[in-house]
Amino acid sequence: MNYPTVVISGTKLAQEIGSTRSEVWRLVQQLRTLGVEIAGHPSSGYQLTAVPDLLLPELLEPLVRGTIFSGHIFHYYRAGSTNTLALEAAGVGAPEGSVFLAEQQTGGRGRGNHQWHSAESVGIYCSVILRPQLPPSDVLVLSLAAGLAVQSAVRELDSSAQVDLKWPNDLLIDGKKFCGILTEMNAEATRVRHIVVGIGINVNHTSFPEDLRQSATSLRLATGRQWSRVDLCAALLKSLDREYRSLVQSPDRHSDILRRFEEQSSMARGKHVHIEENGGFDGITEGLDSRGFLRVRTTDGLRIVYSGTVRLK
Ligand code: BTN
Repeated sequence: MNYPTVVISGTKLAQEIGSTRSEVWRLVQQLRTLGVEIAGHPSSGYQLTAVPDLLLPELLEPLVRGTIFSGHIFHYYRAGSTNTLALEAAGVGAPEGSVFLAEQQTGGRGRGNHQWHSAESVGIYCSVILRPQLPPSDVLVLSLAAGLAVQSAVRELDSSAQVDLKWPNDLLIDGKKFCGILTEMNAEATRVRHIVVGIGINVNHTSFPEDLRQSATSLRLATGRQWSRVDLCAALLKSLDREYRSLVQSPDRHSDILRRFEEQSSMARGKHVHIEENGGFDGITEGLDSRGFLRVRTTDGLRIVYSGTVRLK
């Protein structure tokens, strides 16, 4: 990675990692099967022909220096669920700011026991550990702030992207979902022990399984071009860092986050919706309450949506 265009002999590489040339050959073969482009062979030496768009700590670290995430980035080629990895690590003391990234998830989890489609090396599957000194009732606001962070990261890379937020945690382009957020926590009644914010972004997907085709999109499908996952992931971690710091440093930022979420969400006010919660009901959205829950005016009066799925009517 340090000398991407240089041909380096197998002997030199073996010396650097304290191993043999045949072990270097085996590792190079393994990297190739993972999609890393390496030219050459043991006799002529090896050359990294293209810096891979893999979410490697070596690539992300220099881009996220100064954030709470610097120094704690963990990358997996394949994981069950990065949220599960992060929750397990948090339970045994992993520090705030630990980031778990996977090229592929075999058991990606979504809200409400759904699965998260996690195809290999086309999406960002990212979970971060946070340990805010906040009561559990404030965690929804933090989760809404994560949605704002994804939106600003996408805009940083493409200022023309029209990213809509759907309460509580979906991000849409052209009415189709390209990102979901699953925030999980371990808490006492009055105190959060740790939170895991899991973010799944469909970046370079060119197709989806049949059951998702109507509702899902990717940044590539929406914009017609390939995106750098490394650049997007770095922009995401930086904007998440900004949102998080400002929230924990001044909890009066709550109202600012709620206001910005309402501004950025076309559905938050004045939209006729169906809510899939408690048997389902219809109404008109009336913004968020002071804790971040969605207010919906129904024929029976104002109702607060705590966890249901919102659908436009
Ligand atoms: C949803 O919209 O239902 C939330 C989807 C969250 C998916 C992400 S991908 C990274 C992290 N690991 C998981 O298993 N889930 C979250």
